[in-house]
Amino acid sequence: MIEIDKELCTDCGWCVTDCPGNCIIKRDGEVFFKYPDFCIECGHCAAGCPVEAVSVLNYSHDEIWNLAPEDYVVDPEKLQNLFRFRRSVRIYRKQEVEPEKLEAVLQAGRYSPTGGNRQGLRYIVLRGQLEEIKIKVITFLNEMAGSWDENNILYGYKEKLMDNYRKFLSKGVDRLFYKAPLVIIIAGTEGLPGEIIDGALAASRMELLASAMGLGVCFIGFFKFAADMDPSLTEKIGLQKKEQVILAMTLGYPGVKYFRTVNRKALNVTYL
Ligand SMILES: Cc1cc2nc3c(=O)[nH]c(=O)nc-3n(C[C@H](O)[C@H](O)[C@H](O)COP(=O)(O)O)c2cc1C
Repeated sequence: MIEIDKELCTDCGWCVTDCPGNCIIKRDGEVFFKYPDFCIECGHCAAGCPVEAVSVLNYSHDEIWNLAPEDYVVDPEKLQNLFRFRRSVRIYRKQEVEPEKLEAVLQAGRYSPTGGNRQGLRYIVLRGQLEEIKIKVITFLNEMAGSWDENNILYGYKEKLMDNYRKFLSKGVDRLFYKAPLVIIIAGTEGLPGEIIDGALAASRMELLASAMGLGVCFIGFFKFAADMDPSLTEKIGLQKKEQVILAMTLGYPGVKYFRTVNRKALNVTYL
């Protein structure tokens, strides 16, 4: 829902041209918010209004920032370097993540685009219960792997998962969360394929911001696998009935330094 302040509005019609739902129309030279049912509250009208006549209702206006280009333009070369240089981090320092950095990483997820501006993602941060949940997942994965035969699609991971469990019990080696001080779980609505994409986009932005702040991340697909299979785990992390885990990611200060980028398969692209 949006509101147009007619005292300020000059009826320039800019908002009409950019509204993705075509909810705003111009008739007889005057701009109207005509089709509220089609409004996805994306905020474009408010962000681009030259005279700040538009506001999105039910959202905090304190969060609207007027930024100058020097505050948001990023050097593309540096950004490309970051894309190539970032690595999944599997060694962490024993150092807590500052609350404001954790908050910034979560906000990066929150500000990611979502299909239809759905904004349905939820974040669960494992801190105090991290060890308890880690043991539960490592144990569950060991039990699952023990039951797999060659026909199982994950058979290739069988030995690894069972070895992870043994090494965890005997030496405290953590090959699930790599002793990271924090794990962020991204959750979304079950049965909404679009929300999996939303979650993946959010995860990617969170990782890049974390890298830019000197933090490290590793996505943990095995946590999602366990959560999809073990209802006691989803209950433990407080997942609601219609929610699913989309992805989990570790977060902490890297205890590893890389000096160069890595190889990748050649770009696979078709131009039509
Ligand atoms: C969806 C997804 C799930 C992943 N799950 C795991 C995991 O469970 N454990 C792990 O150590 N790494 C995991 N990774 C990290 C990948 O192994 C890693 O991204 C890949 O080997 C490339 O290395 P790089 O991230 O350093 O470029 C996952 C990555 C993605 C994108």
